[in-house]
Amino acid sequence: MGLKDFTREDPIFTDESVLRDTYQPDTLIERDPQLADYQNALRPVINNAPPKNIFVYGQTGVGKTLSTDLVLEKLTQDANTYDDLSIEIVNVICKSLSSSYQVSIRLVNELRAPDDQIALRGHGSGDVYDMLWTELNQLDATHVLFVLDEIDSIGTDDDILYELPRCNANGNVDDTYIGVIGISNNFQFRDNLSARVKDSLCDEEIHFPPYDAEQLRHILETRAQPAFRNDVLTSDIIPLCAAFAAQESGSARRALRILYKAGDLARQTDRSTITEADVREADRVVEEGKTKAELESLPVQNHITLYAILSYALEDETPVRRKQIYQRYKLLADQIDADVKTARTIHDQLSQLTLKGILDVAERNEGIKGGNYYLYDFNVDTAIIRDALEKQHRIGDLFDK
Ligand SMILES: Nc1ncnc2c1ncn2[C@@H]1O[C@H](COP(=O)(O)OP(=O)(O)OP(=O)(O)O)[C@@H](O)[C@H]1O
Ligand SMILES: [Mg+2]
Repeated sequence: MGLKDFTREDPIFTDESVLRDTYQPDTLIERDPQLADYQNALRPVINNAPPKNIFVYGQTGVGKTLSTDLVLEKLTQDANTYDDLSIEIVNVICKSLSSSYQVSIRLVNELRAPDDQIALRGHGSGDVYDMLWTELNQLDATHVLFVLDEIDSIGTDDDILYELPRCNANGNVDDTYIGVIGISNNFQFRDNLSARVKDSLCDEEIHFPPYDAEQLRHILETRAQPAFRNDVLTSDIIPLCAAFAAQESGSARRALRILYKAGDLARQTDRSTITEADVREADRVVEEGKTKAELESLPVQNHITLYAILSYALEDETPVRRKQIYQRYKLLADQIDADVKTARTIHDQLSQLTLKGILDVAERNEGIKGGNYYLYDFNVDTAIIRDALEKQHRIGDLFDK
């Protein structure tokens, strides 16, 4: 058959961009209680009073970023009607920033002109804070609100979450009120915040719970309306996408991805309606994509362990004993010049990979003589593991050997 023509005819979508991750809807549905809390927490700003610091948390895909964008847009709009207010918003996605130091450098650069940026390393951390306070003291704003989205990436190094909310009280910044909004989808991060950070950052905590199937259905219906042609969706399609996503995580992002992928699968085979089978296949594809992304983002030590198990799997030797995994792990780590960790560390790692759903474990008992031992196998298709590992910088080389 060879190549087909590219044409603008599309049996499924009128505007597929509405279903993409990058699309920003201008209203938020099913989140009225959270929006009310959010607006209430920001009320002091409109009264030209010191802002409260806010910590927003909830699992991935539940509308934290979208709500924040919409609430702050509304706040700046409404503040325009008051002459005595001038509000600056500094919005930073901290995903690639792994320490308070890196975040504070980024904030200095956000406040400085493009031709006046500071280097990403080589400063004393006290110096960076001083630069930050200088920039803020020079600003001609009544309020600066810092949005630190995906702030969990700084881990336990949370000093910035103490310094920034405290900068007025500590006398570092005068004349401009500073407020901080921290956003995180990592519950462990929230639990591990140091007591002094909890004290200063969490004046208000806003929790975004997962969506249930009913809410997801409503969100999908609203999005589907401008995205699909008439009659593409039979009445069972959206409820099924919503049910899959609700069962897995309650994430609107996941629900939207399933619906989009289902449409894409129908289009690929030139059909003009989406079937239940498309939705099931789409759910599988979305899950696989998520697993791959998760696998790829693991640290190199995990990748070595997974490679060791993969090598057994390819020899048909799985499930495999923990002891044997460690033997092979040591050889491999040595081969790629990585640190060779202790058996204990690798055992912990195996448990963590099991908790993440990547591995499966079975406990065996050989009676008094043999004692207990653990057998591990993949809980994920080996082809997916292989794909993810092949892409890794050092591990990938092992496949050639
Ligand atoms: N209530 C809603 N109404 C309409 N769309 C929504 C709603 N909630 C989430 N979405 C959509 O779902 C996707 C994920 O939402 P958002 O980015 O706000 O999630 P998040 O909570 O910030 O997740 P993460 O922790 O992964 O950053 C976005 O495409 C967003 O437009
Ligand atoms: Mg987000």
